[in-house]
Amino acid sequence: MMKTIVLTGAAGNIGKVLREQWSDGRYQLRLNDIKPLGEIAAHETLHVGDLRDADFCAELLKGADAVVHMAGIGTDLELDLLIEHNLKALLCLYQAARTHAVRVIYASSNHAIGMYECKTEIDEHAAVRPDSLYGVSKVWGEAIARLYFDKHGVESICLRIGSFEVEPFERRHLQTWLSHPDMQHLTERCIEAHNPGFQIMYGVSANTRNCWRQRDNPIGYHPQSNAEDFADRIAGIPTRGGPLAELFLGGGFAASDYSRKT
Ligand SMILES: NC(=O)c1ccc[n+]([C@@H]2O[C@H](COP(=O)([O-])OP(=O)(O)OC[C@H]3O[C@@H](n4cnc5c(N)ncnc54)[C@H](O)[C@@H]3O)[C@@H](O)[C@H]2O)c1
Repeated sequence: MMKTIVLTGAAGNIGKVLREQWSDGRYQLRLNDIKPLGEIAAHETLHVGDLRDADFCAELLKGADAVVHMAGIGTDLELDLLIEHNLKALLCLYQAARTHAVRVIYASSNHAIGMYECKTEIDEHAAVRPDSLYGVSKVWGEAIARLYFDKHGVESICLRIGSFEVEPFERRHLQTWLSHPDMQHLTERCIEAHNPGFQIMYGVSANTRNCWRQRDNPIGYHPQSNAEDFADRIAGIPTRGGPLAELFLGGGFAASDYSRKT
């Protein structure tokens, strides 16, 4: 039977791409954003609204198989905005997922671990080292996911998304690039996997220079793209944010407002 998938943040960068990738109608899609969602297709329903509204969330998730949660604030803007859209809205979503037993595929971020130096090899069990308040908000999201699985059995896969770009365009991307086809494959594996429980997955392509080691892979994610194919063109292009952005995994987020002396 065709699965019903809720896609939040469907008007955003990643949401728009996933929507397009699923335009063949492989899923019945419930699209959500606070922004307009454009023309509707036969396999879609549109749900413009704010996920901070608990009743709205409950209605949105009712009867769905999974929610691909891409809505949120993706920059280190004001704390209030992070609290509202990355914390409060996420809690509303998890309450609805608990009520209706819906699997959550959560857009976490590499910025949850962005203060590791680029050369440090880490797996998904390494201690978190956020590089910004934005990164802290993603750590909080991963903690909510853990809580709702341990106490309520809500299945969650947290995706520590690297750099989602059509093509890599700076040196850092040799490590962090996540191609559009690999993101589609990753998300579909999250939807289709049997009993994933709680899992953190690195959302990154099969980049030769990547230092994230996925120890457990219960969903069967096997990326195909490799940023190394673009190395001739981008290895000489400095990472935006200066020398500290080159040193730390989180790039410009890690370098911003850095004041440590030793
Ligand atoms: N793009 C990347 O490379 C990248 C990397 C790491 C993590 N992520 C994470 O992945 C997710 C998607 O990234 P993106 O680049 O598409 O972000 P984006 O900012 O382009 O899209 C996010 C969408 O969420 C919507 N939104 C925000 N608050 C909402 C609310 N309360 N209710 C309903 N909709 C709301 C916005 O209107 C926006 O369209 C984000 O959570 C981001 O933090 C992205």
